[in-house]
Amino acid sequence: MNTFSNSIIYVPSSIQDARRMIKASVDFESLIERPGKEQILLDRAMSALKGKTRIPSFHRSDYGDVSAFFDEASADYDSDQLNPYWSFAHEILKFILTKFIAGHFLNTQSIRVFDAGAGTGNWSKFVLGLNDRVSSILFDMNQNMLGVAHTKIIRLPGSSAKIVEGNLEILSDFPSQPSNLVLCMHNVIGLGRNIPLILRNLYLYLEAGGMAFIMTTNKYHAFNFAIQYRGEDEARRVVSDGTIKFKNDMPEMFCYTPQEFKTLLETAGFEHVTVLGFPVTIYPSVEDTKLLRNETLENSLRNPDARNALLELEKRLCLNPSFAYRAGSSLIAICQKRT
Ligand SMILES: C[S@@+](CC[C@H](N)C(=O)[O-])C[C@H]1O[C@@H](n2cnc3c(N)ncnc32)[C@H](O)[C@@H]1O
Repeated sequence: MNTFSNSIIYVPSSIQDARRMIKASVDFESLIERPGKEQILLDRAMSALKGKTRIPSFHRSDYGDVSAFFDEASADYDSDQLNPYWSFAHEILKFILTKFIAGHFLNTQSIRVFDAGAGTGNWSKFVLGLNDRVSSILFDMNQNMLGVAHTKIIRLPGSSAKIVEGNLEILSDFPSQPSNLVLCMHNVIGLGRNIPLILRNLYLYLEAGGMAFIMTTNKYHAFNFAIQYRGEDEARRVVSDGTIKFKNDMPEMFCYTPQEFKTLLETAGFEHVTVLGFPVTIYPSVEDTKLLRNETLENSLRNPDARNALLELEKRLCLNPSFAYRAGSSLIAICQKRT
C-alpha cells in the first residue's frame, strides 16, 4: 500500500456494505452543504501530492495520437458490452438519459440529436430507439469508428441517422442546422485537445432552449485509480497536469472534479448545469479498464439478485450530485441553453 491508502475510495463488498458505507460516509441531512468525509480525504490527499510535486512536465498527445489510438481500438471498442461492470454502468447511463430526455422534451415534436464524438454509435442507437420522433447526426473525426457506426445504424432500413465527419474544434465542420439535443458521451471531451473551444462550439451549435448531456472523466476517480493501480507518478499527473492515463498505450485524457466541470460548462455559456456521477456504489477494477473488457474481478454483478439490488440503490443515489465524486465511470453534466 502507498502513503495515500487512507484516502482511496472505499469499495463495498456487498449491497449491505454499500448501504452502510454510504450512510457512514455522508451525512444525509447536509448533503447539499458539504461533501462526505471520503471526498474531504481525497481532496486533502490530492493537495498534499500537488504540494510535494516539483512542476513536472508531462508529454501532451496531439490529434494524430488520438486518431491512431481509435484506428486500432475501433474493432474491439464494443467489447465493453460483455463486461459486467460496464454493462451495469451503461444501464445507469440509459436510466439517466431516459429520465432527463423525457422531462425536457415532453411537448416537443422532434428530437434532433447531435452525437458529438459519436464513435461506434452506441448512444445514437439508444436514443433513436426511445421513440420515432428522434433523429441523429453522428459526428466524429475517426473514420474507423464511424465505419462501425455505419454498419450498426446508418444502413438499417428507414434509419433517421446520418454521419458527418469533422473536428469538434472547427465550428465550420458542424452541420448548418442546429440540433436541440447534444450528446457528448464518455471520453470525447477528455480526448479533445482544446476543451474550452469544443464546449463553446457545442454551446453555439445547440438550438436555443435545447439540452446537452456532456460527459467527462472524474478527477477523483482518476486520482484514486492511479494511486491504487498505476503508482505515484501517474497520480502526480492527475493533480499537476489534470490528465490521466489509465494505461500506458493511450493518449492522456483531461479529467475534472464535478465542481471544475460545472464551472467549465458555465464559462462556455451553458445554464442550469447539474453534474452527476455513476456508478457510485461500485468501482471498476484494473481488469475493467482493459480494451478487451469481457473479464472482470467484480463477480457480484454476475449474480442477478445482487445486481438488481445494486441497480435499485444506484438509481436512487446517482441522481444526487453530492455523490458524483465517487463516480468510477464518468461524470455527466445535464445542461441547457437559454430560450
Ligand atoms: C471514447 S470514444 C467515445 C465514443 C462514443 N461517444 C461512446 O460513448 O461510445 C471518443 C470518440 O471521440 C472522438 N473525438 C475525440 N476528439 C474529437 C474531436 N475533436 N472531434 C471529433 N471527434 C473527436 C474520437 O474519434 C472517438 O471516436
